[in-house]
Amino acid sequence: MTDPVAAPVTGRFITLEGGEGTGKSTQIRRLAAALEQRGITVVATREPGGSPGAEEIRKLMVTGEPGRWDVMTETLLAYAARADHVGRTIGPALLDGKWVVSDRFSDSTFVYQGVGRGLDRETIRRIDSAVLDDFKPDLTLVLDLDVAIGLKRAKARGAGEDRFEKFGAEFHERLRQGFLDIARRFPERCRVIDAAGSEDEVAAAIFAAVAARFDL
Ligand code: TMP
Repeated sequence: MTDPVAAPVTGRFITLEGGEGTGKSTQIRRLAAALEQRGITVVATREPGGSPGAEEIRKLMVTGEPGRWDVMTETLLAYAARADHVGRTIGPALLDGKWVVSDRFSDSTFVYQGVGRGLDRETIRRIDSAVLDDFKPDLTLVLDLDVAIGLKRAKARGAGEDRFEKFGAEFHERLRQGFLDIARRFPERCRVIDAAGSEDEVAAAIFAAVAARFDL
């Protein structure tokens, strides 16, 4: 039997996924606060980004014109950022027993670069496997929202990080279906959250899903 004292303490890894303007960053703050209230130490982070080097790569990905990168280069940028993020932020936090809540992770590459821009899933899977082995979130919450509403919200935010918004409505409709498809294919890991409700309603649905998954 493993000695529970000697076994490394590991935290939990939760990701929020979804299209533009679905409210992920607001909801990450709400979830982190709710978990902290229960005495859990939370590291809230995001992709692309979440470590100094990955934040540099983020600027390359989210600013400028849509055609700035071909899809393979863009995928490798996403995974270069992710390797740094996992190595320097996520991995150490989990080993320290903290819970990590990330705004996007690998599912975003499968959806944006795969479903959206057409890189085949098997190629992304091989890159993912080379970079991350089989490291995956313990729980993924897919925030689902009407594309027109999401794009309108994202535009109103206007942070200058609008490269992917410029790919157009049809692209974003495919992304929405791509996220729902991932949720269908990995039902043990993913929960779909209706993001059309009020901020409080969505926060409650997210916390309920997290509490159910981790017996809180
Ligand atoms: P966000 O902070 O608004 O979610 O912006 C990040 C953007 O980067 C968003 O448009 C999705 C895009 N993205 C990818 O295309 N591939 C990825 O792997 C990740 C993590 C994000």
